[in-house]
Amino acid sequence: MSHADDTEGTRRDFLYYATAGAGAVAAGAAVWPLVNQMNPSADVRALSSIRVDIGGVSEGTQLTVQWLGKPVFIRHRTQEEIEQARSVELSDLVDPIARNENIQGQADATDENRTLDEEGRWLVMMGVCTHLGCVPLGNGAGDFGGWFCPCHGSHYDTAGRMRRGPAPQNLPVPVAGFDGETTIVLG
Ligand code: FES
Repeated sequence: MSHADDTEGTRRDFLYYATAGAGAVAAGAAVWPLVNQMNPSADVRALSSIRVDIGGVSEGTQLTVQWLGKPVFIRHRTQEEIEQARSVELSDLVDPIARNENIQGQADATDENRTLDEEGRWLVMMGVCTHLGCVPLGNGAGDFGGWFCPCHGSHYDTAGRMRRGPAPQNLPVPVAGFDGETTIVLG
């Protein structure tokens, strides 16, 4: 406190610091038992997980949610989109790697290896262009009926795989899973 000669100022400063201190202690106390009970990886996962209600996402539409500060696309694909994605030859892909964090090791970028369910109705991806990080446009945008990044013209297909333009990789699929029929858990 540099205002020792100014009694009013000193009292105000003291009250301010005392209140801020109490807040910090309370927050620390609330978080600590949680962190303490879990092993580090579970704790990091739990703190960064979110649950998304997909009950209202009808076929042919998508939901964009914010997760860890980034957009995530959750698309309920139509049968046509699924068939389109599944008819593509691996040799036609720019990036033949699945880029799916739910799969250990390296897997081919087949449509089956990128969707959340076996039928391929649900596709969950980070909404961040792999070129320089813009958010691609969805709902059938681009020459391949999937997503299009207008920043420098990258086209992604209905499985979010890179097909034409400067982006080097498919849109990444984050760790995700179902909890019941209408909830998707990210992280
Ligand atoms: S950031 Fe998407 S094409 Fe460049």
